[in-house]
Amino acid sequence: MKIAFVGKGGSGKTTLSSLFIRQLAADGAPVIAVDADINQHLGPALGLDEAEAAALPAMGDRLPLIKNYLRGANPRVTSAETMIKTTPPGEGSRLLRVREENPVYDACARPVELDGGAVRLMVTGPFTDADLGVACYHSKTGAVELCLNHLVDGRDEYVVVDMTAGSDSFASGMFTRFDITFLVAEPTRKGVSVYRQYKEYARDFGVELKVVGNKVQGQDDVDFLRAEVGGDLLVTVGHSDWVRAMEKGRPPRFELLEDTNRHALRLLHTTADSAYERRDWERYTRQMVHFHLKNAESWGNERTGADLAAQVDPGFVLDEGVTASV
Ligand SMILES: Nc1ncnc2c1ncn2[C@@H]1O[C@H](COP(=O)(O)OP(=O)(O)OP(=O)(O)O)[C@@H](O)[C@H]1O
Ligand SMILES: [Mg+2]
Repeated sequence: MKIAFVGKGGSGKTTLSSLFIRQLAADGAPVIAVDADINQHLGPALGLDEAEAAALPAMGDRLPLIKNYLRGANPRVTSAETMIKTTPPGEGSRLLRVREENPVYDACARPVELDGGAVRLMVTGPFTDADLGVACYHSKTGAVELCLNHLVDGRDEYVVVDMTAGSDSFASGMFTRFDITFLVAEPTRKGVSVYRQYKEYARDFGVELKVVGNKVQGQDDVDFLRAEVGGDLLVTVGHSDWVRAMEKGRPPRFELLEDTNRHALRLLHTTADSAYERRDWERYTRQMVHFHLKNAESWGNERTGADLAAQVDPGFVLDEGVTASV
C-alpha cells in the first residue's frame, strides 16, 4: 500500500514518516521509503550521517533510465522524451513491485539498516533555487509519480512517501496516488489551514485523509485540533525525548520509543491497512488517466510535440493480476 505524509513546513512530516517506517521495519514489513519533500531530510531521520545522505542517488537525475525501463515495450510510449510524469502504464509497460530487484531500484534505491530490518530508501534529490521554477520542480517529484503509477503494491507491502502539501502535488496527480494520506498538523491556525486546503482538493477524488496532530502539549491542543478538523483527527503525538535524542545523533534503540508514541504508530499502521482494503484499482487507473490528459493538454502536448492522449491504453487496468513484461 502507499502512504503519504504531508503537512506544513516544520510540522513533523519527516519525523513521523521516519518513525512510521521504523515501526514497519521493526514489524518485519517490506518498506520502500521515498523522500519527495523539498527539504530532503528523510535519510538523516532514518539515521544516515551527512556523507551517507549526500551520497544517495537522486531520482530526478535518473529520469531517462526510469522512463526507458518503465515504458518497456509499450507501443504507445515510443520514446523517453515523450514520456511525461503522468504517462500511464499500458500493455507492454514494465511494472515495479515492492519486493523485487530491478534497474530502477539498482539506480535509485539504497538499503538503510534499521532495528528489525532494512528498508529501501529513494530520494528525489535536493531542490535548488532554480528547481523551484515550476518545470524542474515537477520533473523531480515527477520521477516519484511515474514510479507510483507503475507500482503494483500488495497488502503487507509499504511505500511511505514524505512530501510537502504544496500546490505542486495538486497540479500533478500525486496527491491521489495513496491509499491514505496522513496530514501532520501542529495545533496552530497555520497547521490546520494546510489541512483545509488539502481537504478541498482531496474531496473530488475520494482521497482518504487523516490528521495526525504533532507537538501536542495538552488537552487544550487536542481540543483545538478536534474543533478544527473534527472526525478527521486520527491521533495526536506529543514531544518525544526519543526523537530529540535521535536529533542529537544518539538514537536509542527503537524499542525504547515512548509507549504513547508507539501506540500512535500502531494506529497509523492499522488505519493504513484498512485503507488498503478499500483500494479500487480501476478508479486508481482512471485517475492517473484523468491527470495525464489534463497535463497533456495544459503543457505536455506542446512541450513534447506529440499527442500524449494517444499514450492511454483504454483496456489497461493496473492491478495485482497484471503480469509485467520483461
Ligand atoms: N513529536 C516530536 N517530538 C520532538 N521533536 C519533534 C517532534 N516532531 C517534530 N520534532 C522536531 O521538529 C523539527 C521539525 O520536524 P520535521 O523535520 O519532522 O518537520 P517537517 O514537516 O518534515 O519539516 P520540513 O518542512 O522542513 O521538511 C525537527 O527538529 C524534529 O526533530
Ligand atoms: Mg521534512
